[in-house]
Amino acid sequence: MSASIPLFLSQKANPQIALLGAQGQLGQCFMSLGLPNLVAFSREDADLTQPQKLSKKFKDLAPDLVINCGAYNLVDKAETDYGPCTEVNALGVMHLAQICKEIGAPLVTYSTDHVFGGPAKRDSLGSPIPWVETDIPCPISVYGASKFAGECLAKASWEKCYLIRTCGLYGISGPGGKGGNFVEAILRAVSLGKPLRVVADQICTPTSVKNLARATLQLLGHFGPGTYHLTDQGSSTWHAFAQRIIQEAGLMVEVTPLTSADWPAAAKRPAFSVLGSIHSGNPQFPRQIPWQDSLGDYIKQRGS
Ligand SMILES: NC(=O)c1ccc[n+]([C@@H]2O[C@H](COP(=O)([O-])OP(=O)(O)OC[C@H]3O[C@@H](n4cnc5c(N)ncnc54)[C@H](OP(=O)(O)O)[C@@H]3O)[C@@H](O)[C@H]2O)c1
Repeated sequence: MSASIPLFLSQKANPQIALLGAQGQLGQCFMSLGLPNLVAFSREDADLTQPQKLSKKFKDLAPDLVINCGAYNLVDKAETDYGPCTEVNALGVMHLAQICKEIGAPLVTYSTDHVFGGPAKRDSLGSPIPWVETDIPCPISVYGASKFAGECLAKASWEKCYLIRTCGLYGISGPGGKGGNFVEAILRAVSLGKPLRVVADQICTPTSVKNLARATLQLLGHFGPGTYHLTDQGSSTWHAFAQRIIQEAGLMVEVTPLTSADWPAAAKRPAFSVLGSIHSGNPQFPRQIPWQDSLGDYIKQRGS
């Protein structure tokens, strides 16, 4: 699979792209796209919490674009581990934006649906309305707040930041720190014969990293810096997502629906965090793929 580089880069001779967090699931996906002159950094090679080393490395490399897939993603642990979480997601992203400004490279960095934790907006029939880029975030967890702080600090540091909010990611290489994504966790639980109990009162959009990486590159080709929402299309509870995973894998297992109150977690989750976009009517905005189709592709690709 190969992808073309964004238009503003193709006008440069031999443009370089630096990728941070290359060993995460989104980072691995960018690496699989066959982008020319992509220089990939693991956490060891480019640590967001070590700005001086990072600055030296990036000044030497002088990339034309920086894509940051690195983040502290342990949502529950962050409630008590708020120092390290903030150091990576807020201060780390700010330092990276400052470095990008010094070298003149646009920065792409990712944020989350967890920045929206307040009650959903509703239409006249009472149905919840997806959050768009112009809605005011209201995080209800340390993780959500750290990501929103990272957005604000990056934006205040460098005007050429693409802040991309996304949701419910899964990809072939699961997140190192989290021990696999939700799809893998469900399939592993089935293979171990564990009973499946999944929350049915939190609605989001499962999103394939493959689509997110491609959508990011398309966005860069047509849109200027700013805040964008990129997810797959549609919405689902985690319970319905689990049922669909089992169905797509050709399995027959019951999934018991739970409420959030039945499944107490350290961090509060948004009840409704589906992301929409004010740009969705623009034909150049990345086309969304129904989440069920993306999940089917993923299950086929990963094999049994
Ligand atoms: N996963 C989701 O459902 C989800 C939902 C919404 C938004 N997002 C956002 O989307 C982006 C990509 O997520 P993902 O699922 O691909 O994450 P992931 O698989 O957890 O990967 C995150 C990567 O960041 C690295 N990292 C951790 N601390 C770092 C540091 N101090 N400096 C540099 N790198 C560091 C990790 O390295 P190690 O492997 O060494 O730990 C890991 O490789 C993140 O910004 C995330 O917050 C994710």
